[in-house]
Amino acid sequence: MQQAASKLQPNNEVPGLKGLPLVGNLPQFQRHPLATLIKAAREGGDVARIDLASQRYYLLSNPDHVRHVLQDNNKNYVKGYGKVRVLLGNGLVLRFAEAMTEEIARMLDGWEARATGGRKLDVAMEMTLLTQRIIVKTMFGADVGAKGERIACAFETALAGIDTRFVIPLWMTRLPLPANRRFEKALQTIDEAVHRIIRERRRKGQEGGDDLLSMLMEARDEETGETMSDRQIRDEVTTIYLAGHETTAVTLAWAWYLLSKSPDVARRVREEVSRVLGDKTPGIEDLPNLTYTRMVLDETLRLYPAAWMISRTAVEEDEIGGYRIPAGHTLFLSPYVTHRRTDLWPNPEGFDPERFAPESGNGRPRFAYYPFGGGPRLCIGNNFALMEATLVVAMVMQRYRLDLVPGQTVKAHPKGTLRPRPGVWMTPHSTTSTTTI
Ligand code: HEM
Repeated sequence: MQQAASKLQPNNEVPGLKGLPLVGNLPQFQRHPLATLIKAAREGGDVARIDLASQRYYLLSNPDHVRHVLQDNNKNYVKGYGKVRVLLGNGLVLRFAEAMTEEIARMLDGWEARATGGRKLDVAMEMTLLTQRIIVKTMFGADVGAKGERIACAFETALAGIDTRFVIPLWMTRLPLPANRRFEKALQTIDEAVHRIIRERRRKGQEGGDDLLSMLMEARDEETGETMSDRQIRDEVTTIYLAGHETTAVTLAWAWYLLSKSPDVARRVREEVSRVLGDKTPGIEDLPNLTYTRMVLDETLRLYPAAWMISRTAVEEDEIGGYRIPAGHTLFLSPYVTHRRTDLWPNPEGFDPERFAPESGNGRPRFAYYPFGGGPRLCIGNNFALMEATLVVAMVMQRYRLDLVPGQTVKAHPKGTLRPRPGVWMTPHSTTSTTTI
């Protein structure tokens, strides 16, 4: 990547989208973020300029450049937060399967009445409530309680607000506008929920369990020997609470949507589940045999990567693709854009799990596909998420067929995560008495 400075393109030549004076590409980006990114990459190429008001960003979509930023030269690129990675090793994940299947079964029991009455449900919300219960139970040994839906909505509002705050000036966030008030209220709801979990654990003391929460409470600074402050614990709990459920829920919601649009794929999943599991509750030993189910989830994460945008800021000047990246500049890496590059993915808009058949990935660059990021900041929950999502798909398939309520327009809404909007309404039909596909 190193070249003599004289060979570099002058930076004003970084190609990009045409923009308006002062605001640049901000109006298009706010209205249609995904389409704007795709257009920037298709027209601008591997390194494309996007101007959001006074800030200039570069969008990278070439897998080699993504690898450079996330992996090879990662020390030169910073992102804001994250201290918990040491605490959630991969081995730990396996012991959560049972807690997951218990919660999934609980949700499926709750669907019985709707199935009998032919009533619809929003699977996007159902998946959020489920993954929320699972993360709270496995990581913090707690129960979400009756406020699950309120907390879920608060996370959605907070995420959308954080996203907006990335592009609007600070003073606007301080105005007494309804959107700002909603954001503050959402943060308060989340804070109360997290506070309740911590308070409860403090009350129980040692008997609370040996989960992530107790590790956080007991962790001591190697040099000072001090434990974490309440604020630090609350921040860590909030990060895991959010990162640990929202993305998995969104992935599952899209999986149900895509499966409902591809009956042949759905039939193959159902056949695999029936062959591998029959009626038995799945355990970790079954996961390696649910190959096709996993391929469906991999392909879902290609088309709708819940973390659709990753950003990094350059510490020192760098060079990427022949362009100079000045120190302090922020780069956009978008799995959504790279996952839809026509040179890497034939028919990129098509839903085709075969792309992830065991041998078909040979020859694809590592960073042609990175729904969980990569390098040292690779998602610490990737195994947890894939295990959870596979168990959910398998267990739902064992008991129900989900039919999409006709006449819905479902769109990808990239605020925080890539949520399907306005939800995914489906009608569950019980399949345990008769064998239906
Ligand atoms: C399908 C589900 C998931 C997706 C698509 C996803 C995606 C990602 C991505 C792309 C990153 C890297 C962000 C960056 O480089 O800036 C990340 C980081 C992270 N993820 Fe996930 N994630 C998922 C599930 C989970 C789960 C279940 C947990 C917790 C149990 C989790 C916890 C985290 C944490 C704590 C980080 C920050 C790690 C660090 O900065 O070192 N994620 N995730």
